[in-house]
Amino acid sequence: MSDENILNARNANPSLMNGEAKCPVSHGSSDQHTNRAQTNKEWWPDQVNLSILHQHDKKTNPMSEGFNYKGEFEKLDYDALKKDLNDLMTDSQEWWPADYGHYGPFFIRMTWHAAGTYRIADGRGGGGTGSQRFAPTNSWPDNTNLDKARRLLWPIKQKYGNQISWADLIILTGNVAIESMGGKTFGFGGGRVDIWGPEDDIFWGKETEWLANERYTGDRVLDQPLGAVQMGLIYVNPQGPDGNPDPLASAKDIRETFGRMAMNDYETVALTAGGHTFGKAHGAASEDHKGTEPEGANLEEMGFGWESDHGKGMGRDSITSGIEGPWTPNPTKWDNGYFDMLFGYEWELVKSPAGAHQWHPVSPKDEDLAPDVEDSSVKVTTIMTTADMAMREDPSYRKISKHFHENPDEFADAFARAWFKLLHRDMGPKKRYLGPEVPDEELIWQDPVPEGSTDYDVDNVKSKIESSNLTIQEMIETAWASASTFRGSDLRGGANGARIRLAPQKDWEANKPEQLEKVLKVLEPIADSTGASIADVIVLAGNVGIEKACGKSIPFSPGRGDASQEQTDEHSFAVLEPYSDGFRNYHKSNFQISSEHMLVDKAQLLGLTSTEMTLLVGGLRSLGIDHNDSSNFTDDVNTLTNDFFVNLLDMNVKWKPSGENSYEGTNRSSGEVVRTATSADLVFGSNSQLRAIAEVYAQDDSTEKFVDDFISAWQKVMNNDCF
Ligand code: HEM
Repeated sequence: MSDENILNARNANPSLMNGEAKCPVSHGSSDQHTNRAQTNKEWWPDQVNLSILHQHDKKTNPMSEGFNYKGEFEKLDYDALKKDLNDLMTDSQEWWPADYGHYGPFFIRMTWHAAGTYRIADGRGGGGTGSQRFAPTNSWPDNTNLDKARRLLWPIKQKYGNQISWADLIILTGNVAIESMGGKTFGFGGGRVDIWGPEDDIFWGKETEWLANERYTGDRVLDQPLGAVQMGLIYVNPQGPDGNPDPLASAKDIRETFGRMAMNDYETVALTAGGHTFGKAHGAASEDHKGTEPEGANLEEMGFGWESDHGKGMGRDSITSGIEGPWTPNPTKWDNGYFDMLFGYEWELVKSPAGAHQWHPVSPKDEDLAPDVEDSSVKVTTIMTTADMAMREDPSYRKISKHFHENPDEFADAFARAWFKLLHRDMGPKKRYLGPEVPDEELIWQDPVPEGSTDYDVDNVKSKIESSNLTIQEMIETAWASASTFRGSDLRGGANGARIRLAPQKDWEANKPEQLEKVLKVLEPIADSTGASIADVIVLAGNVGIEKACGKSIPFSPGRGDASQEQTDEHSFAVLEPYSDGFRNYHKSNFQISSEHMLVDKAQLLGLTSTEMTLLVGGLRSLGIDHNDSSNFTDDVNTLTNDFFVNLLDMNVKWKPSGENSYEGTNRSSGEVVRTATSADLVFGSNSQLRAIAEVYAQDDSTEKFVDDFISAWQKVMNNDCF
């Protein structure tokens, strides 16, 4: 699942490869000066990757205990920051001069590439964590030279310190850049909290070479959950699929990849045309002039990469994508130049100085030439990439492009809105947005949920639930189904909104639609009669189920609201459907990735530690929560016990496979089948780290601890979306 292997391979000690002398002492890390040992992950690549559950441990976080970014952001002099950013746009630095004296386009590309890694399938990627500072994206070929863009921001980050996170700064800078060149924006919401190391949970593809493509099957079907066509690209290859300069084939790739970023055709044209209204592509000479990317570069480069030995290595000599030239005659001004050029000329396929495919207008008029980046008296021809040509050649894109060309105000508005969505799609509910520029308008992709009441008698609701005829399992399963759609990646889903009663969620196989309908028929009238939201009642019912099963009381915070069907974009919610949920032993048949790997993936999206994941699986199994009745670890499903762990680790039982994702445990002496399980169960006995945790909870002295710890883990899931 992880790209660790790829990176480790690429970061392998260069001195090892060169056969140079090595330091014999292990310094406890695998930097360029130490002999690097093969990691466990490399020895046993099929192991579940538990490290993703602890990847942003607080020990890696330099902020003081109790640091609260929201509180810091509220102290920020936002206008002063925006003014400084605005001044920076034209404060060209000798070490990386601004094209045309304006860094705006360069910064827009930085922001776009930060946000643009977001993909809807698992909600991962995006600009929400400031991860562009770290591997692998800091070194992706598509992010060439963006190391300089972030470094240009450093004096501003240094000045404002903790009041603006890197993540917010990288996003806000793109907005200021657009505004500084006369473009319209729709607003800005802050609140992105930085991480302090790479995100190892994100599967970027299985390729082991940059720009390789082994991610398509059949009629160009892109592997899930990927959102890009090649390893190390944000979306598509600008030259066309795998470098084939075919605008129609490019349109197909663009539609698929932008669709996976939650963008429709209208938004895709607005974004691409709007983005390429600004700036230029850089391909002054062949790629082999470019040095190593930042993660592999020499120490003295201080985190920079791609040092170029072509000419000055910057300015008009820069090499980034290999494509060369600006899109419009006025690359630092918002105007209609992109469409004027696109539709004003016929286009011919040519090669850039770097040898990349690009398109030139046939016989451009003098006034349609653009200035050189260093000397405006020198004129250069404008360009289109094959991907830009898709905006003209694909019938649907063409229609929209023509419409925007004729309606520049609508184009400006469409760009501003799509840009805002691009930048905020991974931030979760609007109430998380901070700052004076948060737009009032409610947008459907923000998954709006009305405020719920806190002013009702919780005990009264609980007693009504208790006296209903619902079983412990029905209550717990429904609460789990409701809350467990949450994903920390883009902060979508969860119990808030009670969307479990709406399409599409109510019909998901994992949610046992018939049982769900029955449970909701009991819970909805309770909500009606008490003033509680259905969302709260569903969570309370889960708590009641657990309280009945263990005799302890579970703390509860009210206030969830109920969304309506109109507030729910069915298409956009469809991606939250679980293919696999090991917590309730659900695994869609024929789903390729094994259930134990999917379990860890889901645990990561739920923000769980490996101990919490272990507790929840053990507890839920002891209560008979098991989608297909595929596991059998207890004789009493109405009591919360550590039976799962005790029986899983029972040395009298020998396990063997009995079908797809199913196992039988036989008594070693009698040969009788005494247990059944799935791989999401057995992984807690087979994986050494999970087994160590399972042992703790199987111990004779752990029964009380197990129940208390289970309740904490349960509450975490129920409250994940209470921001
Ligand atoms: C089909 C999708 C897209 C493709 C294939 C694409 C491709 C490219 C390429 C090849 C470059 C040249 C990089 C260089 O050599 O410096 C570039 C630059 C740029 N792109 Fe895109 N892009 C796409 C979408 C977007 C979007 C959605 C935006 C923003 C809304 C955007 C904004 C920019 C800007 C502002 C630059 C100029 C950077 C500079 O002047 O330094 N692009 N793009």
